[in-house]
Amino acid sequence: MNETRAVHHAAEIIKRGGIVAFPTETVYGLGADAFAPLAVARIFEVKKRPHFDPLIVHVAGPDDLGKLVTDIPGPAQKLINRFWPGPLTLVLPKTDEVPDIVTAGLPTVAVRMPRHAMAQRLIELAGCPIAAPSANPFGYVSPTTAEHVREQLDDQVDLILDGGPCPVGVESTILSFSEERPRLLRPGGVPLEEIESVIGKVEITPVERKSPAAPGMLPRHYAPRTPIVLAAKDEIDSYTNKKAGLLAFREPLRAFEHTEILSWKGDFREAAANLFAAIRRLDALDLEVIVAEAVPETGLGRAIMDRLRRASCEDDKLNYDQAGS
Ligand code: TXA
Ligand code: MG
Repeated sequence: MNETRAVHHAAEIIKRGGIVAFPTETVYGLGADAFAPLAVARIFEVKKRPHFDPLIVHVAGPDDLGKLVTDIPGPAQKLINRFWPGPLTLVLPKTDEVPDIVTAGLPTVAVRMPRHAMAQRLIELAGCPIAAPSANPFGYVSPTTAEHVREQLDDQVDLILDGGPCPVGVESTILSFSEERPRLLRPGGVPLEEIESVIGKVEITPVERKSPAAPGMLPRHYAPRTPIVLAAKDEIDSYTNKKAGLLAFREPLRAFEHTEILSWKGDFREAAANLFAAIRRLDALDLEVIVAEAVPETGLGRAIMDRLRRASCEDDKLNYDQAGS
């Protein structure tokens, strides 16, 4: 099936209440009509995702927000103008029409307009906003290729659209407008610095967590089967274990037998785009441990470190309340 026909077919499936895996610029999503609670319920089943973890609703454009949110505060509008389409999700007060299963009963809904042409086309053709989490079993690393989705969910979804590898490679940045000041819930594809250059200082949830109300807030998330430890570049050499794999940010001082280099030149964009596929490849090798090199926490480095921490479950070092799921 060629791409155009595949997208039309996928849109028909969504219209009929089915579920489709589709590419976005961040990671592959598993989508259903956001206004079809039964279809959305199937997503939770397939992912084995607890029902108290809300989904992101993907729109074709800002015009779709009318039926989803009751208010767009000024700063949120500025961010929409600047970063949509793109990897930025906004949490805004929801309308009554948005089904509770999508928002886990919260009075807010998370919305984003993806930049990936295939995702945009799919939403337009389906004629409805598409509720979609990442297309991975709950708690596992997000898929950045159609093959990743096939490996884990193939027989459980109605169709998998193949749009090639996801160019950004980490999930969207999530920003909440449910309190007085905008708050970063998850660092992601749009760096915090760029957001703050548009709307000024953003709240960053401190380490202290009230209660892990949503699984996305659980520290161990995005986790492969193999244990991951985070190490500074000069600590890496202390891992002499034969069955250790190395996830290096840039060219390593010493390569392990199994080494993945995220970006030879140390470029964050390239590293983010390679991150999840590299973790999956190492995870498939039956290693005792994956040693991940810590990266500087600026720009996209913040999202990369957030995912590595959650994969390694360094609970005490977590800086954010919310991760993806
Ligand atoms: O890049 C992305 O955001 C990808 C692609 C597919 O768009 N999606 C994604 O979805 O990462 P998911 O479900 O894996 O992560 C969404 C996160 C969850 O941690 C969820 O708790 C949070 O968004 N979330 C959704 N609605 C929310 C709300 N109303 N308030 C607070 N957090 C919310
Ligand atoms: Mg996810």
